[in-house]
Amino acid sequence: MATENLLDYQEKSIAEKWRAAIARRGFWTLALALAAPASLHCIEIFFLRSPLSASSKPSRFPRNWIYVTWYPRKWIDVTSVYLSLLFSLSYWFCWAENRVIQKPKVVAVVSILYLSLTLAWDQIVFEHGAIECGIAVGLASFVFVGYYFKLQKSKFPLEKLALEGKRPQRVCTVRATTLPMSQEAKTQPGSGSYQTSGGASERKRVMVIGGDGYCGWATALHLSNKNYEVAIVDSLVRRLFDHQLGLDSLTPISSIHNRIRRWKSETGKTIELYIGDICDFEFLSETFESFKPDAVVHFGEQRSAPYYMIDRSRAVFTQNNNVIGTLNVLFAIKEFREDCHLVKLGTMGEYGTPNIDIEEGYITITHNGRTDTLPYPKQASSFYHLSKVHDSNNIAFTCKAWGMRATDLNQGVAYGVRTDEIDMHEELCNRLDYDGVFGTALNRFCVQAAVGHPLTVYGKGGQTRGYLDIRDTIQCVELAIANPAQRGEFRVFNQFTEQFSVNELASLVTKAGEKLGLNVETKSVPNPRVEAEEHYYNAKHTKLIELGLKPNLLSDSLLDSLLNFAIQFKDRVDVKQIMPSVSWRKIGAKPKTVAA
Ligand SMILES: NC(=O)c1ccc[n+]([C@@H]2O[C@H](COP(=O)([O-])OP(=O)(O)OC[C@H]3O[C@@H](n4cnc5c(N)ncnc54)[C@H](O)[C@@H]3O)[C@@H](O)[C@H]2O)c1
Repeated sequence: MATENLLDYQEKSIAEKWRAAIARRGFWTLALALAAPASLHCIEIFFLRSPLSASSKPSRFPRNWIYVTWYPRKWIDVTSVYLSLLFSLSYWFCWAENRVIQKPKVVAVVSILYLSLTLAWDQIVFEHGAIECGIAVGLASFVFVGYYFKLQKSKFPLEKLALEGKRPQRVCTVRATTLPMSQEAKTQPGSGSYQTSGGASERKRVMVIGGDGYCGWATALHLSNKNYEVAIVDSLVRRLFDHQLGLDSLTPISSIHNRIRRWKSETGKTIELYIGDICDFEFLSETFESFKPDAVVHFGEQRSAPYYMIDRSRAVFTQNNNVIGTLNVLFAIKEFREDCHLVKLGTMGEYGTPNIDIEEGYITITHNGRTDTLPYPKQASSFYHLSKVHDSNNIAFTCKAWGMRATDLNQGVAYGVRTDEIDMHEELCNRLDYDGVFGTALNRFCVQAAVGHPLTVYGKGGQTRGYLDIRDTIQCVELAIANPAQRGEFRVFNQFTEQFSVNELASLVTKAGEKLGLNVETKSVPNPRVEAEEHYYNAKHTKLIELGLKPNLLSDSLLDSLLNFAIQFKDRVDVKQIMPSVSWRKIGAKPKTVAA
């Protein structure tokens, strides 16, 4: 497919296609749901009965009684057709919305039994004169009506039906249930619950947007393991980027559905899944109304600076996806869950590389004799990093204006794959990107060392950044959720544990590789980015430590295990993807194919 077509497809968004498919399916299932009871009743009325027949069989009831009941027969017919249609319509809406019904299969059986009894009643009473049996059947059908409504979550199912019926179905919810439990749950003690004012213990509901991605998947599993009620919201657009650019994760990753089912079978814990684009506000609203989150962790953005810098179209897509997506999240919280805590993934790249210490979000400045604490200056070095700066400003504004509670986690570069949860089963494996577009420095170096490719240091290699283990990402997010910001507070935490220059990382990987018998070389390649290659860098990162973060630092043993992991999957490496293929200077308006 030509790049332009691919981008068209991307800009229309996956959610549009999903909705079209759901609408088509919805039309046919609704037609079937209504046609089935109506046609059964018509067959019964027009073909299976003789209009004036009241059985000649003896009955304990006087014959007159039967003839009296015959007169409102049309009335009875109309009522029972109407009730059956209402039943089917109500059931269909519940099924289509997939959330009102507690036991969908039981409700389906109850509806079918009700329909059968109403059809049989006429035959029993009028054709065979079995009045006692008819009364019993009539009572049984009323029992089914009562049971049907009891099975609905809503106290007023028809009222709910009226409300929900106005909207087309947009939300796809998946609950993992099918695989057998293969082993004992290896779950951690729960910290995801809180006491309600009535003293009851309730689980915190956390929506993880971007939960199919690198940080999001590890976080969703960790929170679920810690007894939070978790829902993943993801458009799966990241998997689409891979297809477009011919990239693949070093590690084989399962579909999100299989991942969630495997998690259920390993731990017995359910993660809900909503597939859709958060730029589609209607979709997002419905996920909010359905899941009712207490906290939202927002990872759902296009997160690669090189991807952004491929061409105009990708730059526009990324700003749109990231800024509009975050705005929608802010509006959804305001509209549906005002008290919900937003935990937003920002990046240390928002600050750039100033020649002074980087503070955590705010700096106190004295200027012309006056002092104020102001947001720390942002000097983003790509359109991607700029989208994060826009997000931060929008969030800060809504905290002030609407009293939102938010934590901006300015994360450093994450590395590693393994976490306690991901180690439970190979089908839970996380992605590991090593390519020039999505790969991050340390992950890339380990893969390069494993396949005997020289470590690619961009330019002079003095670029210094904050780094953290993926196990610390998930710890930090949990700490932020467990200690929420106050109403109206916009908190900023610098989320990293150590800082390294690219040259320092290369030398650490070289030493670790040599210990494993690898011959590791380092090569300086022309820097595709526009950035300082030698600079001062000292960023504060104390607030998460104060909340209880126990860092997993980059020790020799950790590097060994990362390298061993890369060696394990080295046959999957496509060496053509290793070198950088996107230049900050050459970005143009013309759509570009990133050739391997
Ligand atoms: N990985 C890192 O080292 C790192 C460092 C600093 C900050 N971050 C930030 O953390 C977040 C997650 O990063 P990651 O490495 O896990 O990225 P990722 O690309 O692996 O995951 C992002 C996920 O978000 C989903 N997504 C994107 N746009 C969406 C939309 N509009 N609606 C719904 N889902 C959408 C994608 O499909 C993907 O599954 C990003 O915001 C990124 O900027 C990551």
